[in-house]
Amino acid sequence: MDCQESGFVTTFAETLNAEKPSAAQIIPGGEEHLPAIAELAGVIWRACYPGILSPAQMDYMLARMYALDTMREEIRFRDIRYDLLLVEGQPAGFASSGSTAEPGVMKLHKLYLLPALHGRGLGSRLLRHCEREVRAGGAHRLILSVNKRNARAIAAYRRNGFVIADSVVTDIGGGFVMDDYVMAKSLSDE
Ligand SMILES: CC(C)(COP(=O)(O)OP(=O)(O)OC[C@H]1O[C@@H](n2cnc3c(N)ncnc32)[C@H](O)[C@@H]1OP(=O)(O)O)[C@@H](O)C(=O)NCCC(=O)NCCS
Repeated sequence: MDCQESGFVTTFAETLNAEKPSAAQIIPGGEEHLPAIAELAGVIWRACYPGILSPAQMDYMLARMYALDTMREEIRFRDIRYDLLLVEGQPAGFASSGSTAEPGVMKLHKLYLLPALHGRGLGSRLLRHCEREVRAGGAHRLILSVNKRNARAIAAYRRNGFVIADSVVTDIGGGFVMDDYVMAKSLSDE
């Protein structure tokens, strides 16, 4: 799927408004959804990450993080859940979250929305859904890593109550590093 070519996305993006929230729904992502999630990731990364990650680093990370075997293993053995945003029944975004070594602290691993649908509150809606899910699972704190250059995502997280808690540079192999902020939100006071 390519967001520039997909008729449904452009048509939907033109007609969606805050008064029509029923056009979007969030469902639990199962193994049957993983090919669609990998495809969405490729489209979103290549549209949103130039200037943030080099093309070589995108290829390297997409191949590692979105291999179907990797995501299947996350679901089966690493207690990571996926949530899928459907817009008029079609995959348009996704999120994933899971536990950490620290009891009560969960991590948002992924939050992605097709670019044509940015700026309509849908990313925040998916984020709030994840917060409800992890809170229901007993978490009192949600953390995430975000590239320091990813101003749009950092702004979205701030809007939703996350604050910068740390700054980390992680060697991910292949000669690449991730230069991230760790952002965090307390869920217990809501
Ligand atoms: C991160 C991401 C999911 C956030 O989604 P978003 O659409 O950019 O952000 P929101 O859902 O919070 O939408 C807020 C915007 O919608 C507008 N909006 C319109 N209707 C709205 C509504 N009903 N409710 C809330 N906001 C609304 C707000 O005014 C705001 O506009 P602004 O960005 O011009 O200030 C999205 O930017 C994305 O997928 N980015 C690429 C992938 C990425 O970087 N992921 C994060 C990895 S760590």
